[in-house]
Amino acid sequence: MSEQYNSLDESINKYREDFPILKRKIRDNKTLVYLDNAATTQKPIQVIDAISNYYSNVNSNVHRGIHALSEEASELYESAHQVTSDFIGAGFKELIFTKNTTEGLNIVANGFLDRLHKGDEIVLSRFEHHSNLVPFQQLAHKTGAIIKFIETENYEMLDLASAEKVITDKTKLVSFPHMSNVLGSISPVKELTKIAHEHGASVLVDAAQSVPHMKVDVKDIDCEFLAFAGHKMLAPMGSGGLYGKEEELEKLSPLLFGGDMIRSVSFEDATWNELPWKFEAGTPNVGGGIGLGAAVEYLNDIGMDKVRKIEHYLTDYAMKRLAELDYITVYGPPADQRGGVISFNVNGGKNGIFVHPHDVSTIMDEEGIAIRAGHHCAQPLMEAMCVPATSRMSFYIYNTKEEIDLTIDTLESVQKIFNS
Ligand SMILES: Cc1ncc(COP(=O)(O)O)c(C=O)c1O
Repeated sequence: MSEQYNSLDESINKYREDFPILKRKIRDNKTLVYLDNAATTQKPIQVIDAISNYYSNVNSNVHRGIHALSEEASELYESAHQVTSDFIGAGFKELIFTKNTTEGLNIVANGFLDRLHKGDEIVLSRFEHHSNLVPFQQLAHKTGAIIKFIETENYEMLDLASAEKVITDKTKLVSFPHMSNVLGSISPVKELTKIAHEHGASVLVDAAQSVPHMKVDVKDIDCEFLAFAGHKMLAPMGSGGLYGKEEELEKLSPLLFGGDMIRSVSFEDATWNELPWKFEAGTPNVGGGIGLGAAVEYLNDIGMDKVRKIEHYLTDYAMKRLAELDYITVYGPPADQRGGVISFNVNGGKNGIFVHPHDVSTIMDEEGIAIRAGHHCAQPLMEAMCVPATSRMSFYIYNTKEEIDLTIDTLESVQKIFNS
């Protein structure tokens, strides 16, 4: 067992060498400890080099010029499409490049504008990030559709029994996070999809927190749509993807209209380009897409099973260390049922004082530790859990047990300052 762990530690240390930012000093020469990976991850040199190579040697628009640079840029961009669609088990036509998860979710919400009628039902969950709630609130306002919610089991996991109740023949679309960005809970995504399909509803998976951290196969899940972000999986800001079954994307109206997404245009009307370009209107983020392809290749070299194993190793260790502290409340399920996300509060100890997460993260920051504090773009969930905010640490392949130890030591200082 410990031999296996040594080899995980060795791998982590090897990966760390690829991330220039992890070498920088911060706040009075402290070594950066980056534990805000659920917000966005750092970028390895392989990704930085791929972007730099594109801008230094290839920069040109794609699918337009009949010249060498444009041909090379188009080839690089399309090959990034191919490796990314392979990564999630999709066909080439089934993956649209987007600027982030939010854009993918909005494309689907917008596409349902002409498919929903008054009284139709949209089913979401209590775990939603604002990005997977607000677009559907707007959709409901515009169509007269009704939103219902899958409840949770004690704010740990989504409750399948509740899903069985709220998903009915009136449900047209079901959407939920594959992994909660607040609690780390991994949803029973195949079971939920099956229930939705039994009622003829389409399924959109918000995979912002799963595609970067575990093997995701869209054909195995059998969902109609799945959205994720490149910037949360080592790729540059402004990169992401939306998967859709080919026949579903053919049916869906585009969100943006203009150049590149058309097949032919007259003064009166237009027809749409073939997939996936129908949904990529205007000049795309070519450098970002190429960077996403490089990030996928980097993750493929590691293997997604190993990514998951490392994160589980770190999460399990951090949960055990946190459990030793009587002044800490950890939210969400046990380590085995979650990804590498831990939300917690300092609210116990001798005087039982609630220390606001902003204070916790300010003290962490003084030690060079970057954690997230706040509502994590999930205000309704915070309200339902009766907490104003939480602190959150989230891991990726370059985090170490030593970093977790330092974070726990700093929590001891927080406790001493506020609560002794
Ligand atoms: C579960 C979940 N959904 C959606 C989003 C929005 O992602 P993006 O910032 O890439 O649009 C996030 C971002 O943290 C998330 O965690």
